[in-house]
Amino acid sequence: MDEGFWAERWLQGQIGFHQNDVHEDLLKQAEAWLAGGPKVVLVPLCGKSVDLPWLAAQGHVVIGVELVEAAVEALFSSFGPGAAVEALGPYRRWTHPAAPGLAVLQGDCLQLGAVRAQLPAIDRVWDRAALVALDAPRRALYAATLIAAAPGADVLLNVFDYGPDLSQGPPHSVQAAELDRLYPDRPRRLVDERVEPASPGLKARGVDALRTQTWRFVL
Ligand SMILES: C[S@@+](CC[C@H](N)C(=O)[O-])C[C@H]1O[C@@H](n2cnc3c(N)ncnc32)[C@H](O)[C@@H]1O
Repeated sequence: MDEGFWAERWLQGQIGFHQNDVHEDLLKQAEAWLAGGPKVVLVPLCGKSVDLPWLAAQGHVVIGVELVEAAVEALFSSFGPGAAVEALGPYRRWTHPAAPGLAVLQGDCLQLGAVRAQLPAIDRVWDRAALVALDAPRRALYAATLIAAAPGADVLLNVFDYGPDLSQGPPHSVQAAELDRLYPDRPRRLVDERVEPASPGLKARGVDALRTQTWRFVL
């Protein structure tokens, strides 16, 4: 899935993954996961998620990473006029006076290593519809990128498991065995799990239901 694929989805408004409310699994886990004072939270493949301003409003420093300019523009236009954009290595870094503590790096998340030295140490990673948005080769690169960019960070990972990933496009199915390979020697804790009816897109692929799992582990 390349930039063209995601740009086209944003252009066509095919963003069924976007939620107007703060994600329920983040809300459920936030108190325990973010305990102990302000954190630096990385939100990879962030889209225009309202989780970003919500986390920033709790006093955390929030760094989103999103490939598609239209998504970042949509998020920042929700704060009103006045967004500032500056270059940061391969990224365009967006900020807004109405959303203090929030920055979005517009560009490819797989290039985070190029700016690691310019970012504050990352304490937390909120992965919602990020790992599952990537095909298998990119999932391996993504996990390696996070391990290098945010060592020691506590990850809250939301994944879908609907059987072996047949690589028919996002959302991909990510099973526990793959997490073992992507994040080796990192004990994981399943903090939530539920079975839900599949989206119409997945139903068209013959998937009736999917297991949503929320994991915590340290990079
Ligand atoms: C399934 S959506 C999830 C968005 C967001 N996490 C949410 O919960 O609404 C995946 C997002 O990742 C973006 N994306 C895809 N590949 C990317 C990459 N390599 N680097 C940064 N963003 C990427 C897409 O444009 C899309 O907005």
